[in-house]
Amino acid sequence: MLFKQQAWLRQKLLVLGSLAVGSLLYLVARVGSLDRLQPICPIEGRFGARSQAEFPLRALQFKRGLLHEFRKGNTSKEQVRLHDLVQQLPKAIIIGVRKGGTRALLEMLNLHPAVVKASQEIHFFDNDENYAKGIEWYRKKMPFSYPQQITIEKSPAYFITEEVPERIYKMNSSIKLLIIVREPTTRAISDYTQVLEGKERKNKTYYKFEKLAIDPNTCEVNTKYKAVRTSIYTKHLERWLKYFPIEQFHIVDGDRLITEPLPELQLVEKFLNLPPRISQYNLYFNATRGFYCLRFNIIFNKCLAGSKGRIHPEVDPSVITKLRKFFHPFNQKFYQITGRTLNWP
Ligand code: A3P
Repeated sequence: MLFKQQAWLRQKLLVLGSLAVGSLLYLVARVGSLDRLQPICPIEGRFGARSQAEFPLRALQFKRGLLHEFRKGNTSKEQVRLHDLVQQLPKAIIIGVRKGGTRALLEMLNLHPAVVKASQEIHFFDNDENYAKGIEWYRKKMPFSYPQQITIEKSPAYFITEEVPERIYKMNSSIKLLIIVREPTTRAISDYTQVLEGKERKNKTYYKFEKLAIDPNTCEVNTKYKAVRTSIYTKHLERWLKYFPIEQFHIVDGDRLITEPLPELQLVEKFLNLPPRISQYNLYFNATRGFYCLRFNIIFNKCLAGSKGRIHPEVDPSVITKLRKFFHPFNQKFYQITGRTLNWP
């Protein structure tokens, strides 16, 4: 009898204990997210005539909840209307560079309560078929957001595609353009690794990087190889500068975003005229992945997909030296134009 009573009591205590721990965790999570979502200061020229008081804490608190539900199709049109949700054209675009860390940059910026990301690469400006569908098609591809938030999309092919600068200019000549770059040789190898993985997935063989990057006839760098051409950043940037002044670009150091993301993100916040809201709390190093991962609150965190942060194949050091020597003058020009020196070899 006594044993039965003891067991009953233990069970009750266990239930009560779990409830208490659950409630505590919930409260901490709420407080954590409330703290992050303090009312943000107006973003210059972006909030229009509406006052800060009209955008209370509550509105932005809904960002993760309501928008997430809407994406899952659980929110009615009525709720969207009630909450003033809209699909806005992007105010900033991550135009490249492929393998520079474009996904990491987009996901990390999305930690900011005033930023809403377009999850997919939309390829509106670089794909003639999509472009022919018109700007309304593009806008409808954008996520729902509050009017005071800014939408950001990323399509790395924009940076290297001939027609894109003019097309973006026609949509919005004052748009902010983000370019994330990595040391050009590393970026080219990363680019190669992605293609190689695709071939291997289809059980196809592929050339070695050395064979593609160096012209066997001349033993010089093969400038016809796309991975090499993409890394000549200054050549592409010069095309963009025919349409946009340099002040409308911000260069993100993709190598530093890997090792020390916060200062890079703070520079972007500044460039976008956003109040600083991304903190060290939002970024934690995951030793298993070997990369920083994202923490939205005490409960929700995530690392980038496994396709980000691949192991690169070993490349002949003499080829690396040759490539670095080749890129050097282009890099110097890039630093000079952008005003950002990146200490690449
Ligand atoms: P590697 O796969 O060569 O390491 P993109 O998103 O433009 O395709 O860039 C992919 C690169 O983002 C990866 O290249 C990786 O190094 C880099 N990266 C930067 N920050 C990262 C992060 N926090 N997690 C995973 N990859 C990150």
